Amino acid sequence: MSGTVRVRVNVNGETRENEVEPRLLLVHYLRDVLGLTGTHVGCDTSNCGACTVHLNGDAVKSCTVLAVQADGAEVTTIEGLSSGGDLHPMQEAFWANHGLQCGYCTPGMIMSATDLLRRNPNPSEEDVRKGLEGNLCRCTGYHNIVKAVLDAAQTGGDGSVDEPAPPKPEAREEMTKGVGA
Ligand code: FES
Ligand code: FES
Repeated sequence: MSGTVRVRVNVNGETRENEVEPRLLLVHYLRDVLGLTGTHVGCDTSNCGACTVHLNGDAVKSCTVLAVQADGAEVTTIEGLSSGGDLHPMQEAFWANHGLQCGYCTPGMIMSATDLLRRNPNPSEEDVRKGLEGNLCRCTGYHNIVKAVLDAAQTGGDGSVDEPAPPKPEAREEMTKGVGA
């Protein structure tokens, strides 16, 4: 195809190769070309963080990166975080601590939070609040999100706080894919 560029990106451990428009944003490549709709678009001002993924291990807002800039890179999305049907400890911690309501911000929050703990495995509450500054949530008031991240840091997110009810299958689906996709 003329006017397009071939990109080869390792997404969630799988090599994907596609012809894309040079101006296509990574978030649209993930959602519209690859069908990975767990990565959300929540703004057009690079503000909300709903689109956060890992690019070569670092959390980035995928609406600020072109797909061609991810050529040759490794990308992890929320769909790639859980393994073999098991939730990632951070996803477990969000569930156990009621760190989500509508779930729209949750995939981006979780991708930022996992990067935060990778950089700082034992953060203070202030570190967590600061680390998640780039992710907006209009529902929770952040308190339970911060609690979830601190729980994940301390317990691996095994649900030891607040004795949560066992997650329903559809709720677990929400944790990995988000809602409103
Ligand atoms: Fe990327 Fe809002 S959609 S920051
Ligand atoms: Fe609704 Fe965060 S849970 S925006």
